[in-house]
Amino acid sequence: MDKFVISGGYRLSGEVEISGAKNAAVAILPATILAESPCRIENIPNISDVMIIIDILSKLGAKIKHINRSTIEIDGTHITQPVVPYDLARRMRASCYFLGALLGRFSHAQVSMPGGCDFGVRPIDQHIKGFEALGTSITLEYGMVEAHSMALHGSPIYLDVVSVGATVNIMLAAVKAKGLTVIENAAKEPHIVDLANFLSSMGADIRGAGTDVIKIRGVDHLHGVTYSIIPDQIEAGTYMVAAAATHGDVTVRNVIPKHLESISAKLIEMGVTIEELDDAIRVKSNGHLNRANLKTMPHPGFPTDMQPQMAVLLSLAEGTSIITEGVWDNRFRYVDELKRMGANIQVDGKIAVIEGVGHLTGAPVKATDLRAGAALLIAGLAGHGVTEIEDIQHIERGYEDVDVKMRSLGAEIKRVQTPESENFATAV
Ligand code: EPU
Repeated sequence: MDKFVISGGYRLSGEVEISGAKNAAVAILPATILAESPCRIENIPNISDVMIIIDILSKLGAKIKHINRSTIEIDGTHITQPVVPYDLARRMRASCYFLGALLGRFSHAQVSMPGGCDFGVRPIDQHIKGFEALGTSITLEYGMVEAHSMALHGSPIYLDVVSVGATVNIMLAAVKAKGLTVIENAAKEPHIVDLANFLSSMGADIRGAGTDVIKIRGVDHLHGVTYSIIPDQIEAGTYMVAAAATHGDVTVRNVIPKHLESISAKLIEMGVTIEELDDAIRVKSNGHLNRANLKTMPHPGFPTDMQPQMAVLLSLAEGTSIITEGVWDNRFRYVDELKRMGANIQVDGKIAVIEGVGHLTGAPVKATDLRAGAALLIAGLAGHGVTEIEDIQHIERGYEDVDVKMRSLGAEIKRVQTPESENFATAV
């Protein structure tokens, strides 16, 4: 397995291009099987989570044509078996979107329970509640979720918690259900709006995406379209924080500044200069960072997927900062790794108290999940000395060519193959 070796202390500068949004792509790609003709999807990020979704589509029987690095054509019209195999589904959480998409297409679906990042209990009770309201019976046996319906019908659904996944899954199943579905307390993330725009361009009737009430009137047919995925809000935010942490001057290109407002606002509060351009954001830091508190919330609140990266930045700030995690039960597992780099962070449940330490120092560390890995990478870039990050497969689930992009900004980062003996030592 490979690792990243980073020599820290270099100021990032220049321009970086943001890829398509992971969390939009992993919803839109399964949605293509609802179309009665091929779809061409552009701006697909070249990351492992997306590759798994494409692999699942292909194993289901869809024809996949790679047009170029970020564009594929998907013809799902030949799919006959609505079953997602265990060995693929268990590798990522978003594979459960095949439940909604296959239900919408066949009124029947069988998908293994999802895997994905491990930061606390990750229930799917709200997805199930939604499917049941649409007239589906659900069984959970031998690690498989089986959903079956004689005919899906629209229904009002009030989500008990704001859930991105449940909102996506219900939308996917409801677009072809008979009648009106109203999702209340729906998620409002940019990728929900992107999925709604995609489905609408295929002929679906969806109103209110981006607000907390989404109304979907089922239609009989959906057709193939060409669609371009929005830029990745979290990848962009990660480069913004990396620029601030290294006293850099970076223009982050191909972004929708509106999606980055909560991140920009927090960086401005910390003394970072942010310049909004049409489809780019310039981030400049003179090295002085103010302390700040933040609480993660569903969109438009501060995104939980930026929480670990911000913990690094706050470690470099002057004074004491508090992070309250408002979405996940256990998203501070990375803190022990950051402490090895000199961070001073105390965690109590969903609250982390961060004492600014001025600088971090390089150390061998392990990425415990995707965003934790991104945080360690930023810590390595900003820290003094050499940082070695193991388990970088977590980082590559969500960041396209992160080492190449960081190097183009002046970072000293190498991808190094871990010798077999070290892999063995880790395994035992
Ligand atoms: N929840 C329930 N019941 C459910 C579903 C969720 O109680 O049926 C709870 C969860 O336990 C959590 C909260 O609701 O406390 C929010 O979960 P949500 O369903 O919104 O999360 P998700 O759909 O599993 C997506 C992103 C995550 C991101 C969260 C929150 C995708 C593929 N994943 O997960 O992204 O953290 O929304 O914004 O869209 C990442 O990209 O690093 C990542 C983890």
